[in-house]
Amino acid sequence: MFAIYATHAAPDDPLSALEIGEQPEPAVRESWVRVKISHASLNRHDLFTLRGITAHPEGISFPMILGNDGVGTLDDGTQVVLYPVLGSSDWRGDETLDPGWHIFSEFVPGTFADFIAVPKRNAIPLPSGISPLHASVLGTAWLTAYKALFTKSGLQPGQTLLVQGSSGGMATALIQLGRATGFEVWTTSRNDVGRALAEKLGAHRTFTPNEKLPHKVQAVVDNVGPASWAHSMASVARGGTIVITGGTTGLEVTLPLLPMLSEQITVRGSIMGTLQDMKDLVAFIAAADITPEIGRVLPMEQAREGFAAMWEGRTHGKTVFTR
Ligand SMILES: NC(=O)c1ccc[n+]([C@@H]2O[C@H](COP(=O)([O-])OP(=O)(O)OC[C@H]3O[C@@H](n4cnc5c(N)ncnc54)[C@H](OP(=O)(O)O)[C@@H]3O)[C@@H](O)[C@H]2O)c1
Repeated sequence: MFAIYATHAAPDDPLSALEIGEQPEPAVRESWVRVKISHASLNRHDLFTLRGITAHPEGISFPMILGNDGVGTLDDGTQVVLYPVLGSSDWRGDETLDPGWHIFSEFVPGTFADFIAVPKRNAIPLPSGISPLHASVLGTAWLTAYKALFTKSGLQPGQTLLVQGSSGGMATALIQLGRATGFEVWTTSRNDVGRALAEKLGAHRTFTPNEKLPHKVQAVVDNVGPASWAHSMASVARGGTIVITGGTTGLEVTLPLLPMLSEQITVRGSIMGTLQDMKDLVAFIAAADITPEIGRVLPMEQAREGFAAMWEGRTHGKTVFTR
């Protein structure tokens, strides 16, 4: 079948490991279903896979079909949106706490292909009120944003949220979800285009990276990493929370213990969300009439351009591949 896959780990030149061609159709295990993909969105995780970066000590088995997020149809014609988190068959409770957790394109083939095989529970029927195009961005960046805001940040409506970065898939999700919930949403961006996009999506105030804020904020969501970490620490109010959801500019920072303990700052890591979070997110998007920001739609055959734009930092909102 047609597939977009990683051939090997290329830490400094991820596009050299990107192949668009043929791969075997995935096996459909017992109590799994086959999904014919119509829309699948790009995440920075796909670049990490091409670079060989993974949270799993087992590493990645190449070749690996890329793609965490997708929408498609079951063999009976039901349209479904995919929940990307998998794990141990005997695990109960929060899927993201399962020591055996993983997501599509880590140990099983991903969504950038004609077909994907997934556990039945991971295929959520698509409700009316949300298009397949817009649902295809929800599984990773939007789900992570949802949990970061509603489970981890401790924010109440009316309080101020600082989002580090504006133009990215997760940043745009944080802005749109935060605005719809009644948070005062502030963001940073490296350029005018990012700041204009943030304002269009509902950000109340926008800043340049590392700019001093008019006042400290109750919560920061930081997926940028070392480039924004000192600013996140300097910007969070006494008793406030920094939620770490990514490390686009690197994965090591210095933790200044004195301000952290004296200001009683909580730093929380957050990854993906539960199946229930995903169902709640899909329902929230439909009920609140949120249209997730999509920067670009490309046929899968032209996916290389979408990957290049992300690697070069040229994306705005999510990139969706169609099949
Ligand atoms: N924890 C999880 O479960 C989870 C889920 C999804 C993603 N992530 C992580 O979250 C991060 C963002 O993912 P994404 O898919 O939203 O990526 P993306 O679409 O490529 O966005 C990158 C973001 O980083 C900002 N940025 C700041 N400095 C940058 C720099 N020097 N180079 C590139 N971007 C810079 C950009 O803001 P401006 O362009 O406006 O400055 C933009 O908002 C990644 O590290 C990803 O692995 C984690």
